[in-house]
Amino acid sequence: MKASPNPSLRTLNTFGVEASAGFLVTLECEEDLLSLPSFDPAADLLLGGGSNILFASDVPGTVIHNRISGRQIVGSRGDFAWVEAGAGENWHQLVLWTLDQGLSGLENLSLIPGQAGAAPIQNIGAYGVELASVLESVTAWDLQRNRWVTFDLPQCELSYRDSRFKSREPDRYLITSFRLRLSKRFTPRLDYAGLREEVGQSDAADVSPRVVSDAVVRLRRRKLPDPSVTGNAGSFFKNPVLNPEQAERLTGLFPDLPKWPSDSNEIKVSAAWMIEHCGLKGLRMGDAGVSKQHALVLVNHGSASGKELLDLSSRVQSEVYSVFGVHLEPEPRIVNFTP
Ligand code: FAD
Ligand code: EPU
Repeated sequence: MKASPNPSLRTLNTFGVEASAGFLVTLECEEDLLSLPSFDPAADLLLGGGSNILFASDVPGTVIHNRISGRQIVGSRGDFAWVEAGAGENWHQLVLWTLDQGLSGLENLSLIPGQAGAAPIQNIGAYGVELASVLESVTAWDLQRNRWVTFDLPQCELSYRDSRFKSREPDRYLITSFRLRLSKRFTPRLDYAGLREEVGQSDAADVSPRVVSDAVVRLRRRKLPDPSVTGNAGSFFKNPVLNPEQAERLTGLFPDLPKWPSDSNEIKVSAAWMIEHCGLKGLRMGDAGVSKQHALVLVNHGSASGKELLDLSSRVQSEVYSVFGVHLEPEPRIVNFTP
């Protein structure tokens, strides 16, 4: 375990926002958990790759940065193989490694930034696939009771950009590893708009997991700003999920508003389209901006503070609400320890 006092968190969040912490503790193996000081959710924070977090304040206590790594195939039966991964693994490198092992299931989730351990937190999703489709179990350290706990898939309570770990019991469990069930037999999932065209092969028999992964990488590089160039945390808002009556009312008023079926008879509508329709794409408030490339992404053009980005997000929320009557919910974790 490494520990350092008063670190800057600027390079530890993809927004590139300045913030500090009382202490930074880096976990390198599971034994390190046994010597952790007790965790206080009112002052301390768990951190992975910092790609889904906005520091609107400093962290008064300790930031625990989890780098417990490791990946291996732990079982194989019939058409499936089971992979276990440590929370500190880089997500995209893990995806590529599974493809190298001849396993499919993660290809549509290529190039999502961050660490593996955060993937279950918001049930990461992209290009028509969510982690929920391959996750079998999550192992975590219970920070309240100081003991190991393993959750099977239903116990993780995964849904669109949500989980038990994100909303019902935030900051209680430090995820250390998870187990995935991946497939030795490949079924391409190409229905997400633009993906089939990007793959560019009409005969599904010729399409390999690697071809799909490469296509997803190309699409993502074209559509989203690169955080190593312009600070951002991907989509800043979730796509609103509406009941059928709300969706019908809205699409009656705005027939071009993109919409997709969501869980249990609900309808997901495009937050990016609503923001662009309000004329906010490319808006700047100082160094805080709405990306010119993608309306759902807030960007740091240089030295925006977390508070400035939060003010911009409030402006986007209120303009979208006044035109569409829909509340946009932020997707990243907003860190705000100020009373
Ligand atoms: P962090 O930002 O470090 O943390 C996020 C949350 O998880 C925090 O609340 C933190 O406390 C908690 N946490 C982190 N690690 C642990 C742990 N081990 N145990 C318990 N809690 C933990 N997301 C998608 O779903 N789909 C996308 O397509 C997508 N595209 C993106 C594109 C870009 C350019 C960027 C910058 C982000 C994108 N994201 C996307 C968001 C982000 O990459 C994911 O949510 C990712 O899983 C966050 O991982 P992280 O390690 O950076 O988490
Ligand atoms: N659109 C606009 N203006 C824009 C961008 C998009 O009107 O500037 C409209 C277009 O009509 C487009 C539609 O929005 O067809 C959807 O755009 P896109 O395919 O880029 O998807 P998204 O809904 O904006 C979601 C996820 C992304 C994920 C992509 C691909 C959420 C909140 N975001 O974005 O996840 O990568 O789909 O599956 O669900 C993230 O969570 O950080 C993230 C990047």
